[in-house]
Amino acid sequence: MNRIFSGMQPTRQLHLGNYLGALKNWVRLQDQFEAIFCVVDLHALTIDHDPETLRNNIRAVTAAYVAAGIDPEKNILFNQSAVPGHAELNWIFACHTPLGWLNRMTQFKEKAGKHRENAVLGLYAYPVLMAADILLYKATHVPVGEDQKQHLELARDIGGAFNRYYKRDDFFPLPEPQILGEATRVMSLRDGTKKMSKSDESDYSRINLTDDADTIALKIRKAKTDPEPLPETVEELEKRPEADNLVTIYAALADSSRSAVLAEHAGSQFSGFKSALADLAVAKLGPIAAEMKRLMDERTELDRILQRGAERAGAIAEKTMGEVKDIVGLLRY
Ligand code: AMP
Ligand code: TRP
Repeated sequence: MNRIFSGMQPTRQLHLGNYLGALKNWVRLQDQFEAIFCVVDLHALTIDHDPETLRNNIRAVTAAYVAAGIDPEKNILFNQSAVPGHAELNWIFACHTPLGWLNRMTQFKEKAGKHRENAVLGLYAYPVLMAADILLYKATHVPVGEDQKQHLELARDIGGAFNRYYKRDDFFPLPEPQILGEATRVMSLRDGTKKMSKSDESDYSRINLTDDADTIALKIRKAKTDPEPLPETVEELEKRPEADNLVTIYAALADSSRSAVLAEHAGSQFSGFKSALADLAVAKLGPIAAEMKRLMDERTELDRILQRGAERAGAIAEKTMGEVKDIVGLLRY
């Protein structure tokens, strides 16, 4: 049986990269798979946070999932900390993860920066918790943006290590990454060589899912470009990261391809292309922002969705944790 699991951290605001790299694909995949979508609030504790803001962000990410088109009845939608199995399986996996594997993780190196000695254990162990998230539900497919590829390979390694150690060949499935669509790595609007990210200090580097139409248009107008008109072929975008990024965003928003976008816009100056892109972005993101805003005022509705999701996720998780405890040799009553 196929089952999807994926999640986003409730840190800061969701942006166009989160939408095109992940959320938009989830909406499509929910019709083909049994799916579990999680707000990974325990992961959000690995960086500096303010408790009241975190609580608010957990609801905001839930609202974004639903506003983008995730059906909370058909799928399971919940927040990670509401199901204790994540933290429990994390520990068991931690006891099967060699430090050497974690030392290779590029995201830890980036996030820890120069002061590695001061980085917290949770940030280092972050990908172990992520493996636990996925395997607690024996998920087979994980739709994510390209930046999560290495973490998913680790999840496969950890699942495989567990299966081998306890001689239970097929206990955990080895989850497949699903890195889908035209925009698997959306870049900053200010620098086409840097990933669009929640933590970039410039708000002009990203389009937030809650930005209004004027802000979206302004950010696209101010986006960095080069002086050349749009080329005819995708190959010609190769050394033009900012042009490539805008064409990629256009293609993903329009459910089209970069080559189809170029076929239509080759020879255009960026001023004209940017205004077409702004119209498209406002048309696609505007309704999501409006629905998010409406849902954020319906706090009891959001909390009800999460509570119901946690009950359904909890039932699956409890079954896996029972099996895991038996396999590793813990007693349960
Ligand atoms: P995060 O905000 O780090 O919790 O990421 C949530 C999801 O969005 C993950 O699947 C990421 O791979 C994806 N994602 C984040 N930033 C980008 C980006 N710039 N381009 C494409 N996908 C992204
Ligand atoms: N690490 C992921 C990110 O930053 C979020 C995440 C946590 C996740 N657990 C997961 C994604 C399990 C997919 C599956 O984007």
